[in-house]
Amino acid sequence: MVEQVRSLVSEVEQAVSAAMAAVLPAELAEQDPLVRRSDHADFQSNVALALAKKAREKPRDLAERLQPHLAAVPWITGVELSGPGFLNITVADRAIIRQLTQRAEQPRLGVAESQSGQVVVVDYSAPNIAKEMHVGHLRTTLIGDALVRVLGFLGAEVIRQNHVGDWGTQFGMLIQYIVEHPEASWRNTEVGQVGHEDATSALDALYRAARAEFDADAAFKERAQRRVVALQSGDEETVEAWREIVNESEIAFQRIYDRLGVLLNHDDLAGESRYNALLGDVVEELRRKGIVEESQGALVVFFDDIQGPEGDRVPLLVRKRDGGYGYGATDLATIRYRLQELKATRALYVVDARQAQHFDMVFRVARRAGWLTDQDVVHVQFGTVLGSDGKPFKTRAGGTVKLADLLDDALRRAREIVAEKEPDLAATELDEIAEPASVGAVKYAELSSVRTKDYSFDVDRMVSFNGATGVYLQYMHTRIKSIQRRAAEAGVGEARFASDLALQSQERALSLLLDEFNATCKVVADTLEPHRLAGYLYGLARAFSEFYEACPVLKAENDDILANRLALCALTARTLAQGLELLGIAAPEKM
Ligand code: ARG
Repeated sequence: MVEQVRSLVSEVEQAVSAAMAAVLPAELAEQDPLVRRSDHADFQSNVALALAKKAREKPRDLAERLQPHLAAVPWITGVELSGPGFLNITVADRAIIRQLTQRAEQPRLGVAESQSGQVVVVDYSAPNIAKEMHVGHLRTTLIGDALVRVLGFLGAEVIRQNHVGDWGTQFGMLIQYIVEHPEASWRNTEVGQVGHEDATSALDALYRAARAEFDADAAFKERAQRRVVALQSGDEETVEAWREIVNESEIAFQRIYDRLGVLLNHDDLAGESRYNALLGDVVEELRRKGIVEESQGALVVFFDDIQGPEGDRVPLLVRKRDGGYGYGATDLATIRYRLQELKATRALYVVDARQAQHFDMVFRVARRAGWLTDQDVVHVQFGTVLGSDGKPFKTRAGGTVKLADLLDDALRRAREIVAEKEPDLAATELDEIAEPASVGAVKYAELSSVRTKDYSFDVDRMVSFNGATGVYLQYMHTRIKSIQRRAAEAGVGEARFASDLALQSQERALSLLLDEFNATCKVVADTLEPHRLAGYLYGLARAFSEFYEACPVLKAENDDILANRLALCALTARTLAQGLELLGIAAPEKM
């Protein structure tokens, strides 16, 4: 049932383990055989260095005793001892080809369903209603979506949760402003029609006007606060106004998701308002369990080791003095729901690193309350998007950059670059290439960056055909597709691995990388770091390019070599396309 092809590296691991069993006592023989890919041979094992002390012998002596057992394995062609006791292992070409043959026969490329049985809740994107999505939402949206794809591919049941900010005092302010200034309502502007592209810009402007009045006028502030109470108690007119704002924002969010090719849709919306009805009960439970305490009229949770700059303890605010609930209470209700109702075995919160303390507190309260036991709950943090000046990415006027504008910019640049390469394309053809290229460029730039670090947003570099870019990967995929098409046209399109060929070094290098796809996917699931897959795919594309330069395909010396190289082309193209899909990047046939 579980489709799985054992990778070569795991076969080598098994061979080293067997050698260990032959020369070491059982408790040492069970240790990790420490096999890695190597520049000096195909694989290297460091196990002799790791175990020498426990085995009471010199590393080199232990390695020497392991060596003959490995050399006796029929498909291992070389075992060399190097340095203080490394074992350098070379495998037979036919072992490589056998492995690729099996992988090529599998629809999922032999990737193990290592996450099956897991129920993973992924909280990502989560923009705020009545505001526009900006560059800050790019990271959570793209990283979250890549993790959803990878974990799902590896067999997990994934539940997407878009925890939009759709509740809170700011809506009282906004609604009160609209009620008092009907002439200013975004519906009265030219762009304020339902679903209009700029409707949320109008809403955003309204929000800022409301905020200004709220800050300047105490009487308005009071009316706005009464409006919050009306909203919370379900006053019909107020709820109606709120719902209209929410709907308008959701249309705008969905437009961005569709444009980005992100999986989120209406069914994934689980915003803050959804948990409203649960808050009282959650607080009651925490009170009963003695976890919350009263402090200056508010209900809070303290942690001995979480302190502010003055050494004063910083609490998680659960209920405000005025009886209102905030972000903290909502996230407590949310985590209880995810663990108890959704039965998550793993819950991921793909949120800005600046919220680290908030999640630390929420997770600790969940643990004290007994909701969180052996499940894996992780704040999947990321850094800030910077401009080319190394400062947080801003518009020239110093404002936040709208996500839609940023995508428009990338599209414009991609058009220019494609037009330069292919000057004769008609405008529609140009866009067929430039659209997926620009989205892929933005996504690859994000996903190839180390998640926890800041990264600079540089459109020119992103859309380049050279270097580690989405465009380069898409282009390599189309090149392989074009080789396959030309082979088919020439009537020599059969792709078949031939078991008894001697492989050239570039063929081996490419093959050994193809063997690592499974392990790479697994590493992403374990570390929650998509950049490992992004980097792997770039390496694969490079290895293909080196292979293709050194090893003619259509002009190969004989039919067996031709068929074998076409099989390598086919497996590379499939692996690239599958890997790009896991990053949410299109792999076009032509470019
Ligand atoms: N809407 C929040 C913000 O913009 C992010 C929500 C993240 N998810 C959560 N469960 N708190 O900061």
